Amino acid sequence: MQIIDGKATAAAIKAEIAEKVAKRVAEGKRVPHLAAILVGHDGGSETYVANKVKACAECGFKSSLIRMESTPEAPLDPADLMAEIERLNADPDIDGFIVQLPLPRHIDEQAVIEAIDPAKDVDGFHPVNVGKQSVGLPCFHSATPAGIVELLRRYDITTAGKRVVVVGRSNIVGKPLAAMLMQKGPQADATVTVCHSATPDLASITRQADILVAALGRPAFVTADMVADGAVVIDVGTTRVPDASRKSGFRLSGDVDYEAVAPKCSAITPVPGGVGPMTIVSLMLNTLQAAENRD
Ligand code: GUN
Repeated sequence: MQIIDGKATAAAIKAEIAEKVAKRVAEGKRVPHLAAILVGHDGGSETYVANKVKACAECGFKSSLIRMESTPEAPLDPADLMAEIERLNADPDIDGFIVQLPLPRHIDEQAVIEAIDPAKDVDGFHPVNVGKQSVGLPCFHSATPAGIVELLRRYDITTAGKRVVVVGRSNIVGKPLAAMLMQKGPQADATVTVCHSATPDLASITRQADILVAALGRPAFVTADMVADGAVVIDVGTTRVPDASRKSGFRLSGDVDYEAVAPKCSAITPVPGGVGPMTIVSLMLNTLQAAENRD
């Protein structure tokens, strides 16, 4: 059984990006600049955005963190968020930006995503990018699926002709990953099945997977009886579960019962240190692409 080390792979890719940025600078080109809007104080979002800002520094990018206050007593006016998005759309120094999700419930997330200029939508969430991806046109790919595909590629795990089962149908992981893997081409050409919470007899389907992707956000949901011997298991889950033995008071739990499932697998991603770091690296690659698109 091989542990797929997303952290080490991400570090290698960040070093490659930093080299490309140094080359850009030597050629007199602009340093890529990523901005992130963080609304309110969601604990997970604070961590993710801090990690994105840190990754920008490691890649030699400029980054800007824009914090917008929102509390139940003083909720952010959605018009103020839209105005900030318009400002970033128009700012020639910004190559790409993200609005960290989830947003407070009173804000229409889809309207926010659709307000972002697709040319700066380095999350790949805008319907223009989603649509281009689904028909195989060049676009910004959603970061987590792109990270998974790159991780498989770097571990020489081919997808062509394989049966891939994705558990989870979210707009940011399940659906775009299925679209990417069913395309024609290298690191694609898979036979993809998407399952979800309303799929009857889920285990009978997941057991058919050569590559099983768990992306539903339920800790330890995938148990050993759901996995075929020799399968590759990709765990996208990162749920915070209370853990009094940790200083933070929580630990991150994947969607896979790792201890029980790992011995059956040919390869598996751990949580943390698997898919998570690759998601951030994909965002960096999209930002570099956004800068190159404007050269
Ligand atoms: N929340 C969880 N994952 C993501 C992501 O990839 N991008 C943004 N903007 N928010 C997220």
